[in-house]
Amino acid sequence: MRIFLETERLLLRRFTDSDVDNLCDLDGDPEVMRFINGGKPTPRDVIRDDTLPRFIHSYERFEGFGVWAAIERSTGRFVGWFEFYPWKDAGPHEIELGYRLRRSAWSKGYATEGSRALIRKGFTELGVRRVVAETMVVNAASRRVMEKAGLRYVRTLHQEWPERIEGDEHGDVQYALTKADWERRQVAERGRL
Ligand SMILES: CC(C)(COP(=O)(O)OP(=O)(O)OC[C@H]1O[C@@H](n2cnc3c(N)ncnc32)[C@H](O)[C@@H]1OP(=O)(O)O)[C@@H](O)C(=O)NCCC(=O)NCCS
Repeated sequence: MRIFLETERLLLRRFTDSDVDNLCDLDGDPEVMRFINGGKPTPRDVIRDDTLPRFIHSYERFEGFGVWAAIERSTGRFVGWFEFYPWKDAGPHEIELGYRLRRSAWSKGYATEGSRALIRKGFTELGVRRVVAETMVVNAASRRVMEKAGLRYVRTLHQEWPERIEGDEHGDVQYALTKADWERRQVAERGRL
């Protein structure tokens, strides 16, 4: 197993061809897919022929970036994924953060833990200068994770999406964190200890 990053409770590793079932389970839960496409499961052939090849391909272009499978260290179970990949494919300075976790793993702080570790690695080892994330205005859990990971609200966007999702009339929000702000916060936190 090629481990990319280890946190207190999670391992992040590369996806492999053997992850089809893991992704089918993840995307098979309507609650997980609620703010992605309104709750529809992703068909197995789409996962096998499109999603998983894209994830595996994501490690090739920019060293250190991609979509990472998250494993719960205490059980060895697949709990979902984190995306940490150049925003609009433009280069390693500006990175998009994303996450999708199985419902059984929600509300344990995993999304926050994985995001913080990726952000730290990005700023300290990978030359990242800014981390960006977007979600639906109504996706309160995702927005909360962004805030807890240190990102701040930038703007609200109204984009065209292929399908209607309940709440999409409110649009999407963009959050971001610069390296300078992250470093300032690290110093402030150390000062409080
Ligand atoms: C978004 C997601 C990754 C969060 O994962 P998680 O591991 O549960 O997140 P964390 O435990 O680190 O933090 C979640 C925070 O949101 C809060 N939260 C959860 N549901 C909420 C809701 N409906 N309203 C308001 N806050 C909510 C939690 O209380 C927690 O905040 P707190 O620590 O201040 O109490 C997970 O819900 C998920 O995979 N959802 C489906 C996929 C998705 O929507 N991905 C994002 C697309 S942009």
